[in-house]
Amino acid sequence: MAYETILVETRGKVGLITLNRPQALNALNSTLLGEVNRALDALEADHGIGCIVITGSEKAFAAGADIKEMANLSYPQIYSDDQFAGWDRVAGRRKPMIAAVAGFALGGGCEFAMMCDFIVAADNAKFGQPEIKLGVMPGMGGTQRLTRLIGKAKAMEMCLTGRLMGAEEAERSGLVAKVVPLADLLTEALKTAETIASLSLPIVMMTKETINRADETSLSEGIRFERRIFHSMFATADQKEGMAAFVEKRAPQFKDR
Ligand code: CAA
Repeated sequence: MAYETILVETRGKVGLITLNRPQALNALNSTLLGEVNRALDALEADHGIGCIVITGSEKAFAAGADIKEMANLSYPQIYSDDQFAGWDRVAGRRKPMIAAVAGFALGGGCEFAMMCDFIVAADNAKFGQPEIKLGVMPGMGGTQRLTRLIGKAKAMEMCLTGRLMGAEEAERSGLVAKVVPLADLLTEALKTAETIASLSLPIVMMTKETINRADETSLSEGIRFERRIFHSMFATADQKEGMAAFVEKRAPQFKDR
């Protein structure tokens, strides 16, 4: 499948999407959004793939939504087209997605990274929601996801001033799961993805779905949901295999797809 703005490959059980608009620091235009969704459709349909890594270049994961594409849109146009609604499909993916972020992850770039299940950052990563400097605010989920990840005080400060946050502060604040040297970023992200992909795919997907419930519901409803999904895992062969392997002191062979 030919793509103009991304590169897509599979490494064993891991799908790797590399954002590839170097001339625009991977600014997220409508072609790129369409291609990312097309690639994710294919990787989700492929039962051999257990985890997806999304990365950019050493200089930029993505410097935001494409300002040049959007600058002259009218209100009726942007409203009627429901600009950015296609990103809901990216965020709603069921297989695990890891963002491997180096360099700038700004505006929509930071928002795209936050749509993934977690972020592994290079030590040169810089996160920010600088939209306020353009006379707008985050429009791809930043006001909601950043606030849930790092809390109201820091999210307010970042969105109202547009200041950037380095990798260390991002890890301390809960925005990223792990910081690694730039040279190790892809290796580390792929290693983590391989670990996830080696586990039971349906159990991994159910775990992702259940954790995401925490953002949508009350504690008591979330715990009830967790318990029901936990019970349902006993209908899978992989639960039987995982527990039998532990008891028999051998490595499990997960097969459910
Ligand atoms: N949209 C379109 N083009 C962009 C872009 C963007 N978000 N970010 C960078 N580019 C382009 C630049 O225009 C430039 O192109 P030309 O060579 O044709 O002029 C090229 O990428 C390289 O950028 P710079 O020369 O600016 O590179 P730099 O190293 O000097 O600066 C930067 C890097 C600080 C990231 C700077 O490019 C920048 O501030 N970019 C914009 C960041 C931003 O405001 N992002 C938010 C966008 S709005 C948004 O995302 C809304 C939303 O919530 C959905």
